[in-house]
Parts: sequence; structure tokens; C-alpha cells
Amino acid sequence: MSGTRGARGHKPATGFADLAQFARQARKHAHAPYSKFKVGAALRTRAGEIVTGCNIENASYGLTLCAERVAVFKAVSEGLADFDAVAVVADSRRLTPPCGPCRQILWEFCGDIWIRIQDLKGRGKTMRMSELLPYPFDGRNL
Ligand code: THU
Repeated sequence: MSGTRGARGHKPATGFADLAQFARQARKHAHAPYSKFKVGAALRTRAGEIVTGCNIENASYGLTLCAERVAVFKAVSEGLADFDAVAVVADSRRLTPPCGPCRQILWEFCGDIWIRIQDLKGRGKTMRMSELLPYPFDGRNL
């Protein structure tokens, strides 16, 4: 993992292993006092910028934000676009794929990008978003 930063203060990328490392680091900032289930995400642009996110829970449970959505909204709010991959890291016996709403949000802003889901032991799976959301509703339907 490089400590240097690229355009707009985001860190330059390499492969999926590196991207997952950023997600793993971001997971440490998770605010998950209710579920105790910490998740980290790292989103990469084609230009190599990386934006991270973690889940942020609230005592009013429904206000909870997933790590993936935090990463996407941070990136979009900073004017980043043209994403090519996202990594999601959690500590679970079963790998943790994005929830339904996050799949929809990832599709809206990232389209058919690569997604790497991984646990803390480094076990994981890499797939395309279209495998997770095979028949999407999007702007083409409107
Ligand atoms: N969560 C994520 O952040 N991402 C996922 O892909 C699955 C679920 C969070 C939401 C909540 O804070 C906790 O995990 C338990 O659902």
C-alpha cells in the first residue's frame, strides 16, 4: 500500500490485493456498536484514484449507511467518476456481498465494474457487478 496521494488527495491504485488492503484499513474506522459487524470498502477509478468507506451505524438503526454507499457517495461528492473496481472486506465466515440497496447504488454510479469481496484471512471472490445484479433497473428504463 502506498502512502502517496494522487489527484484530489486520493491514493493511487494497483491490483485487487492492494484495493482490498485499502478496504481492510477503512474497515477499522467502522462505527458498528449495534451489529458489531464492521465492513470496509474501497472504490477505484480507472485513473487509479481510491476512495474508501466504512459502515456507519446509528442508534436509529434505519439510518445506518453501508461501507459501499459511503465510498460511492464520498467519491461522487468529490467529482470522481469512471470507476473500474470496488473491494469489500468484512470478518465473516461467509463472504460478505453488498446488500440489495448497495448493489443498486453501485450499478447507478459504477455500472458493470469488478467487485472483490474478501475476508480478513484474504479468502475471497472476484466477480462483475452484473453477476450480482443481473437484470438491473437503471436510467435506460425511464
Ligand atoms: N453492511 C455493510 O456495510 N456492507 C455490506 O455489504 C453488508 C452490511 C453493514 C450494515 C450494518 O452496519 C452491518 O453491516 C450489519 O448489517
